[in-house]
Amino acid sequence: MTLPAAKAEAPALATLHAQAFPPEEAWGPDAMVLMLDMPGAFGLWRPDAGLVLARVVLDEAEILTLAVVPAARRQGLGATLLAAALAEAARRGATAMLLEVAKANQPARALYAAQGFTQVGLRRRYYANGDDALLLRRTIGPINAS
Ligand SMILES: CC(C)(COP(=O)(O)OP(=O)(O)OC[C@H]1O[C@@H](n2cnc3c(N)ncnc32)[C@H](O)[C@@H]1OP(=O)(O)O)[C@@H](O)C(=O)NCCC(=O)NCCS
Repeated sequence: MTLPAAKAEAPALATLHAQAFPPEEAWGPDAMVLMLDMPGAFGLWRPDAGLVLARVVLDEAEILTLAVVPAARRQGLGATLLAAALAEAARRGATAMLLEVAKANQPARALYAAQGFTQVGLRRRYYANGDDALLLRRTIGPINAS
């Protein structure tokens, strides 16, 4: 089960993010608030385990971040959070979802491929460490919206 994540949860969300990402990529509480304040943004989380932030603009959704703490990985939570974000995006009228993932991030790439995302672009040296980003996309049909 996932819960809606509101701005009041920003400190707890930041704590989770810091466990899942290296320090230079972790978002602090202020960044969480900024993200959740963006038009169309929403968050879903499982306390102490993982979170997803996304937003919907018109008919397109974007994953802003997805994180599962190391101790909770490979138990299906990443897939659950992504599915919940897809369902919420569909509910808000999105018909497609986009995201960026580091080319070297095999766990995340495997998760996204398993959920039907395919590469539609490449952003060279997109990340601060020089890594390339892949732009992935999938459509959101009614069949996946439940
Ligand atoms: C990517 C991440 C969210 C996956 O979370 P998770 O809860 O472990 O993922 P799940 O257990 O739902 O895995 C679903 C599927 O994804 C794939 N997968 C996940 N982790 C994997 C790994 N380490 N190696 C290979 N495949 C992996 C598998 O196909 C897996 O299904 P399976 O366990 O039945 O084989 C997690 O590793 C994470 O937080 N990483 C650091 C932050 C990050 O990279 N976020 C994404 C940024 S774009």
